Parts: sequence; C-alpha cells; structure tokens
Amino acid sequence: MKFFLDSAKVDEIRYAREMWNIDGVTSNPRHVRSSGKPFLQVIQEIAREFQDTDKTISVEVNPHHTAADAMVEEAVRLAALSPNFVIKVPATEAGFKALWMLRERNIRINLTLVFSAAQALQAARLGATYVSPFIGWKEVNGEEVSEMIAEIVDIYRNYDFKTEVLVAAVRNARQIVEAAVVGADIVTAGFDVYKDAFDHPYTTKGLKIFAESWDATPYE
Ligand code: E4P
Repeated sequence: MKFFLDSAKVDEIRYAREMWNIDGVTSNPRHVRSSGKPFLQVIQEIAREFQDTDKTISVEVNPHHTAADAMVEEAVRLAALSPNFVIKVPATEAGFKALWMLRERNIRINLTLVFSAAQALQAARLGATYVSPFIGWKEVNGEEVSEMIAEIVDIYRNYDFKTEVLVAAVRNARQIVEAAVVGADIVTAGFDVYKDAFDHPYTTKGLKIFAESWDATPYE
C-alpha cells in the first residue's frame, strides 16, 4: 500500500520523504493556502523535492472552473511544469468531461471530491490515474465509508480497471488500517495523522523497560 502526504508545506514533505519514505504528495487549494506561498511557487518547490523520482504530486485546478475546456487548458499548463504532476479535477459533469479529454492527451488525472462508488466507477471508465474518495468528510457527517471503499475496490477488480483507489481526507490510524483491510491502493493523510499512527505509548514504555535492563547488564 502506498502512503501519500496530504500537504503543501515543503518542510513537512521533506521530513515525510526522508523519515517515512513517503510515496507521493497530494495538495488542494486549502493546503496551498496554508503553505503561505503563491500557488505556482509552492507546487514547483514541491516538484523539486521529487525530481528524478517517479513519485507523483497531485495538483488541483482552479475550483472556480465550471467548464471542461477551462479545466483542460489549465491542466495542460500545469502538467507541463513537472513530469511528477498528476492533475486533480473535481467529480462534476464538467470534471468528468475534462478527465476524458485530458486522458486523450496522456495527462494523468486524480479525480477528486469523490463521495460515491458510482462516481468512482465513472472515473475509472474514463481513465483516471487515481480516484480520491474523501472518507473524512463523509464520516464526520455520520456516513458509512468502509463499505463504499470496499465497493470501489471490488468494482475495479471486476473490470480490471487500472485506476488506483486513493483514500483521501484520512484523519486517523484506524482509517488507514480500514482502507488497507479492504485493499485500497493508497491513502493520503496529513503530517500529524502519520506522526500519531506510527507512534504507540506501549512502544515508548517498552523501550524504557528494556533500557533499564540494558543499563543493569554488562556488555561483555
Ligand atoms: C486529497 O487529495 C485531499 O487533498 C484531502 O484529503 C482533502 O481533505 P482535507 O483537506 O480535508 O484533509
């Protein structure tokens, strides 16, 4: 399973690359805003972190675009900036049309803001590289998410779709594990979610116990 970092902060991305061997990055307008930097500057800084690798960086088109042509025009410009960029377009009718047009130009697409298996099926039919169901946004409203992810994974297996299931808006370790149990290809989560997920108080406590024994034992 691949782990992507959901962030546009270069210091977080560098840490995640060096310490956790992160497999890629996803960003969105909210993450770019919290980086405090202009959009084009920050996405190119992130691209430099991954140059000469095949790791992908998902970069979102302007969310004000309501027509497929505008999404396509911007996606073509963004994709030309880095071979690592996968372009995010929303799961709207215009977004699906843009996905289809962009696949014909060999531009890789991450279909974002996905909330149902039907949307995920259409994304795969049209050739998305990634499909991003936002589980955190559903779960916070009390909606079930594991079954939806399992359905998407099953549908893709039934038809041998190559689109990868990128479980997004992941808020905790339990959701990472649930995504893995049903066979999702990728999760993307924020820096603090991974920090918490890789830690366990019993590990810290156990290390202290072992250290005390170590100190009380001659080495040779
Ligand atoms: C995924 O690609 C999105 O960037 C992300 O998971 C959206 O969720 P969030 O910004 O609420 O975490």
